[in-house]
Amino acid sequence: MVFPDHRGRRLRKHNSIRESIAETNICVQNLVMPYFIDESNKISSIDSMKGIKRFTEESIISEIGELLDLGVKMVALFPVISPQKKSKNADESLNEDNLICRLNRKLKKEFPELIIICDVALDAYTLNGHDGLVDSLGKIDNDKTIEMLSKMALNFAKSGADIVAPSDMMDGRIKLIRSYLEKNKYHDTCILSYSSKFCSNFYTPFRQALGSEKNLGNSSKSTYQIDFRNRREAIKESLEDIEEGSDIIMVKPAGYYLDIVREIKDLTVIPIAAYQVSGEYAMIKNAVSTGIFDLRGVVLESICCIKRSGADIIFSYFAKEVAKWLR
Ligand code: PBG
Repeated sequence: MVFPDHRGRRLRKHNSIRESIAETNICVQNLVMPYFIDESNKISSIDSMKGIKRFTEESIISEIGELLDLGVKMVALFPVISPQKKSKNADESLNEDNLICRLNRKLKKEFPELIIICDVALDAYTLNGHDGLVDSLGKIDNDKTIEMLSKMALNFAKSGADIVAPSDMMDGRIKLIRSYLEKNKYHDTCILSYSSKFCSNFYTPFRQALGSEKNLGNSSKSTYQIDFRNRREAIKESLEDIEEGSDIIMVKPAGYYLDIVREIKDLTVIPIAAYQVSGEYAMIKNAVSTGIFDLRGVVLESICCIKRSGADIIFSYFAKEVAKWLR
């Protein structure tokens, strides 16, 4: 069809027509709000993430109550544990009474409709800030790490986690975690695998929030996270995780990786999550603070485009704000 029989603008002339044919809409049901919880019992702000706080074990309860009232039913919990509890071998991650386990029990009792997603990786618990165990030669020991991660996943499942989310990018961890959970009769605990997780500069504010940034120093996660130049490798990693037993897969970061989200969506049949990470949050916040653009417009666009690319579930530090706007 050609002009003038076809004029694209006819369908754009009225708001009600535009609304009627909108192909993508964000719903609160798709959103996950990530939270940092600080064991030191002090609420603190995070310099690189304006507007995001580290909550205490007390204050997170009413915060999550507010979030649920706004319609967001899923949270991802990230612990900021006491520095003296960090160790070479991340032992605190297996403590049945660690910060996350205590919180899981409290939240499950308080909010039956809440879905808790627990991060499975060692970086919050190790002295060096790595996601895995480091051997005597300074290398990440893959197979020892996945044993540890499996126990950690079970520990979280026992305390009430609905979804365990390995974000470490070790090989074979999904298979081992699934078999641990099955063996221990946690048949219904979901695995959301950070399956296509890139080695990204955009995680820096998160590491500052967690207090792992200084520990990590100049060391990089490039021996386990995916090189951002690689598309096919990212697809392979997600396909493998599905094979190993993931219920949900993830692409991370989100905004600069929408080609990967789309391609994996077209190739697979399980739900896909995308994580709008700390650096994406910080960039938008900083630009808005200089008056370049309006927060609401730019955030809704960023989230909508992530959904349009194929993400079913979206992790975003803007989730609570977005829920308020969608009301
Ligand atoms: C830990 C983990 C990271 C993020 C989520 N889980 C950081 C990392 O891999 O270094 C990043 C989230 C964000 O930047 O918002 N494995």
